[in-house]
Amino acid sequence: MTTAVPPASALLDKLRGPGPLILPSMLLCDFANLQREAERLSEAGFQALHLDVMDGVFVPNLSYGLSVVKSLRRVTPLPLDVHLMIANPAQYIEAFRDAGADVITFHAEATSDHAAVLEQIRRTGAAAGIVLNPDTPVSDIAAVVELCDLALVMSVQAGFGGQAFRPEALEKFQHFRQLAQARPDLILEIDGGINRETAAQAWRAGAQWLVVGSGIFAHDDYAAAHQALLAACST
Ligand code: DX5
Ligand code: ZN
Repeated sequence: MTTAVPPASALLDKLRGPGPLILPSMLLCDFANLQREAERLSEAGFQALHLDVMDGVFVPNLSYGLSVVKSLRRVTPLPLDVHLMIANPAQYIEAFRDAGADVITFHAEATSDHAAVLEQIRRTGAAAGIVLNPDTPVSDIAAVVELCDLALVMSVQAGFGGQAFRPEALEKFQHFRQLAQARPDLILEIDGGINRETAAQAWRAGAQWLVVGSGIFAHDDYAAAHQALLAACST
């Protein structure tokens, strides 16, 4: 029987609020000025960062790895929500926790033993989440929802920023809510094509954490982009 460390509930509770949490996706940011970007995002009121790790194997794109996570950890106090778009995630969980990840999510499609990886993440003290690409049904991970602190629903196929929102992803939130009746504290996150138009749909469907890439980084004024996204959800 594994004695999993209690989930990072203190951090997650701190991030809970009446409205959505908007997390900038650190994929389309200015990597030549990463510290400045993190400072600007914090000044714009964002309370956590979403880091898109891509290995070129699980997804047909390469982004960054442990060294960038470690660098960001050194220059920002903001919680780091690390989205692993990598094959064989179990091989890297402790390394990403040591690099500074506060939340670690991995793709259901990248491994067969979901429970083992979720418990592995929780043993490090990080919050544990599982990610579903658009074509992966919620039923694929129903058996392990009680081991999740968070579930991430992709509204684009993982691998690239700037793609078109796929509204059929919203149907999964209803299913998660049914599954998570015993887990009202389960955090539901959405990622991909979230902007001022689609944020309201996602929030109304039940997404609490909204990951936004081009909907922030296509604008010079990050604070205005943040306020516009929050306002879109309050209508
Ligand atoms: C895609 C990433 C997303 C993406 C979001 O694989 O996981 O986080 O960068 O970017 P937008 O908001 O532009 O779709
Ligand atoms: Zn992501």
